Amino acid sequence: MLTLSAPTRPSWIGSALDHLDDLLLDHAHCEKKAAGAALKLLFSYPQHGCLQEPLSRLAREELGHFEQVLQRLEDRGVAFGRQRPSAYGGKLHALVRPSEPQRLMDLLLVAAIIEARSCERFKLLSDAIEDPDLAKFYAGLLACEARHHGLYVELAIDLGDAAQVRGRLAELSACEARILEEPARDVRVHS
Ligand SMILES: [Fe+2]
Ligand SMILES: [Fe+2]
Repeated sequence: MLTLSAPTRPSWIGSALDHLDDLLLDHAHCEKKAAGAALKLLFSYPQHGCLQEPLSRLAREELGHFEQVLQRLEDRGVAFGRQRPSAYGGKLHALVRPSEPQRLMDLLLVAAIIEARSCERFKLLSDAIEDPDLAKFYAGLLACEARHHGLYVELAIDLGDAAQVRGRLAELSACEARILEEPARDVRVHS
């Protein structure tokens, strides 16, 4: 089950459909960032054996998604390139506590929440997009992102106290919902 403290506001899906090419471009960046976040954890925490194989596999899977979104962009004639990102990731990472072991717990839980929000929004997209191929693409991806959400929460529990992890996840999820209430300049996967 996804741990989100509030659902996406109803206006998001309409804006997303109105700016679908922008959203797909952001989505490509998100998949690459998801792979990068997993790799960063591998480099930062080689002492935690339980992280290594699952996060290596997750990073490969995210790069696979990145390549699939690149193909969708090419099919639609949209060039991949730089794009102004949403402030979401930076605001969430600002909540990560600086000292260990809280830092690692928070990094895993922030990743879990980002995966959960992606999953929720991919479901909205798969239900609303008229192009059947693209709708099917999002329906396929959301199961992966739900699994990634569960994996990050499990890893945090493996490395810490389950009750503390659940409590911190609830706190961070509430913060995430507040971040999404703040006005955003552009429509993004996480805006
Ligand atoms: Fe992904
Ligand atoms: Fe993911």
